[in-house]
Amino acid sequence: MSTDAVHTPILSRTEQHVAAQLGDDATGHDIWHVLRVRDNALRIADAEGGDRFVIELAALLHDIADWKFHDGDDAVGPERAAAFLRDLDVAENTVAHVAQIIFEMPFRGAGVPNPISTLEGKIVQDADRLDAIGAIGIARTFAYGGAKGQPMHAPGAPPEQHDTFDAYRLGGRSTINHFHEKLLLLKDRMNTDEGRRLAEVRHGRMITFLEDFHEEWGKADFTHGR
Ligand code: ADP
Ligand code: NI
Repeated sequence: MSTDAVHTPILSRTEQHVAAQLGDDATGHDIWHVLRVRDNALRIADAEGGDRFVIELAALLHDIADWKFHDGDDAVGPERAAAFLRDLDVAENTVAHVAQIIFEMPFRGAGVPNPISTLEGKIVQDADRLDAIGAIGIARTFAYGGAKGQPMHAPGAPPEQHDTFDAYRLGGRSTINHFHEKLLLLKDRMNTDEGRRLAEVRHGRMITFLEDFHEEWGKADFTHGR
């Protein structure tokens, strides 16, 4: 049997499973996010190489059990992904690689290093980060903030650069702060040349948005009005 004949049904079963799991999420982590990450990842892989089966599986499964929705437990996602793939009889080295990528990927605070071991992981992380910035990133961030009941802007609570995962996990006092605590940092943390190139464009869109936002907010921000 050709590789495609083996891989295609596994990929479509995975996509169906993830769609069923994430279905009606309103925090910006819905199936459309996952499909955009998959497409971004395969686009970066066109330029950078890597094992496309591993890349596509990791992209599809990367958000099935995010730590933010499991009391900060970042082991649940990799474990669920691995269990799902083992049920489909995926080779153990592929299962382990996908689980490792999902564990290594998340942003854990501005001052927390997160090295990625493999090219496939670097590509999927870049793809996820691209979907966190630019026009889509802006929309997702406000969707997340709304779902969490967080104010869109809190001028009295300035952004912080978190040095530990716990500080990052428990911090975040407004959606505008999230741009400074994470989103604006991503451009300089991309792993691949192609990811960096795509990130530059999206970064510019966030800068324009933030300038417009603060211009319209104006003197209501007491730090401007003094
Ligand atoms: P990663 O996949 O790098 O771990 P996350 O899943 O933490 O990224 O975050 C994905 C997106 O969710 C962010 O890019 C942002 O849009 C939104 N988000 C996460 N935390 C916050 C927050 N505290 N305030 C606003 N949006 C947030
Ligand atoms: Ni994601």
